[in-house]
Amino acid sequence: MKTSVIGAGYVGLTTAACLAQIGHAVFCSESDTDKLSKLQAGIMPVFEPHLENVIALARKSGRLTFGATEEAIEGGQAIFICVGTPPLGNGDADLSAIEGVARAIAKKASGYRLVIEKSTVPVQTGVQLRKHLSVHSNRGLDCDVASNPEFLREGSAVEDFLHPDRIVVGVESGRAAKLLQEIYQPIINQTFACPVHSRCPSRTPPRFLLTDTNSSELIKHASNSFLAMKISFINMVANLCEMVGADVTKVAEGMGLDPRIGPAFLNPGIGFGGFCFPKDVQAFIRIAEKSACDFGLLREVEKINQHRISHFVSKVREELWVMRGKKIALWGLAFKPNTDDVRFAPSIALGRSLLDEGALVSAYDPQATEKARAALPDVHYCADPYEAAQNADAILIATEWEEFQQIDWDRLKKLMERPLIVDGRNMLDPADLTAHGFHYISIGRPTALSRKSDPANDDLQPSAGPKPILQDFPA
Ligand SMILES: NC(=O)c1ccc[n+]([C@@H]2O[C@H](COP(=O)([O-])OP(=O)(O)OC[C@H]3O[C@@H](n4cnc5c(N)ncnc54)[C@H](O)[C@@H]3O)[C@@H](O)[C@H]2O)c1
Repeated sequence: MKTSVIGAGYVGLTTAACLAQIGHAVFCSESDTDKLSKLQAGIMPVFEPHLENVIALARKSGRLTFGATEEAIEGGQAIFICVGTPPLGNGDADLSAIEGVARAIAKKASGYRLVIEKSTVPVQTGVQLRKHLSVHSNRGLDCDVASNPEFLREGSAVEDFLHPDRIVVGVESGRAAKLLQEIYQPIINQTFACPVHSRCPSRTPPRFLLTDTNSSELIKHASNSFLAMKISFINMVANLCEMVGADVTKVAEGMGLDPRIGPAFLNPGIGFGGFCFPKDVQAFIRIAEKSACDFGLLREVEKINQHRISHFVSKVREELWVMRGKKIALWGLAFKPNTDDVRFAPSIALGRSLLDEGALVSAYDPQATEKARAALPDVHYCADPYEAAQNADAILIATEWEEFQQIDWDRLKKLMERPLIVDGRNMLDPADLTAHGFHYISIGRPTALSRKSDPANDDLQPSAGPKPILQDFPA
């Protein structure tokens, strides 16, 4: 089937590349001319594992082409809208890019089109789209509008797209349902050449869940808000652990063993970020407000998340006493590992907070440096984690890149002014770091010294337990 994808960002590029990989002819359009020229020249505008390879193969086979939106509208029978829906000042999703695409489709297309919202949109956007397409149509457009929210995670986008848990499709006609089922059939049956695994691990085929468009739109916002709620929940549990001398890792492990809870998203840290959770929680709160539902629970989720940086910085301040003039190494800038995306990344808020207090910040990230420069121009960017740590009074870990597990700790310690590590992602082992002579502080976990009171560590000496952190403890 001739398929078009409008918007070549993280979602659009992955969608276009993977649809081509499973056998469709795909035309992908992008309005940013710089990005489009790069794509046409075979240069990747984003970092996403496996994506470059899938795009290169698809272009070589002639199944994937990049170009202008007008061409995408003219050529595609199924049109996936993958443009951004960033937050407005009041928390609403900004739907101007979606509206722009709808208007272009109405003006350009004639004959049948299946218009598919893949961007994350508020419930009833499909209703508006249908109305808008019909109001502006002047060339005999006959169309269905479907919702097909995307659940991929940056860092494993290709794998998530090709091996999803579920494919959610919201439609108002049998024709739209049939076409979408046809498009996704190779994924539903898992019959495609997988570019990620030489032999795919055996998986249950994804569930193809058919709903109405309103329900499908709600599934996406409700899912992201629920996951954000899990993160804020465990972050509050971590705060409590710090106050009472418990270990959040053990608490999360014990909770996660209950299949009704599950272990995912129970990792405490400096909060959720990225282009999805913060804006989707905000948008969901606004959607509820406009429907006269007070979703106060989600306001609390947001508030807890907003306190994470000040809570983390208070740990650093407690150690360094005066922040002004202190040299701080910031390890990790991307909002999560394996991506170069820094949109709404906690590391950016953390960097700003440190600079505001007069600290001198040297940062290192394996992929996100270029994208972080615009957001944090006053930071000194380094080529590796050791350079960032040179003469530093502390290292702060903001992203759990695997590379930070492979550090030569003895070499690192010699470089630093003071061997202090404050781990905002609980990615390192306190006992290991302490054995290497570091003062290691993490989130909701006793320091290695206080771990000596853990009966499981009876070769260690007892100690006084963790010091409570009093500043910025969310109410
Ligand atoms: N990033 C994720 O992990 C993720 C996951 C699931 C869902 N989503 C949702 O998917 C949507 C896209 O997210 P993203 O991260 O890919 O955003 P993005 O900003 O990376 O990409 C959007 C792209 O659309 C382009 N664009 C805007 N208007 C256009 C037009 N008229 N014609 C052609 N191109 C146009 C922009 O220039 C941009 O490159 C959002 O609604 C987001 O919430 C994102």
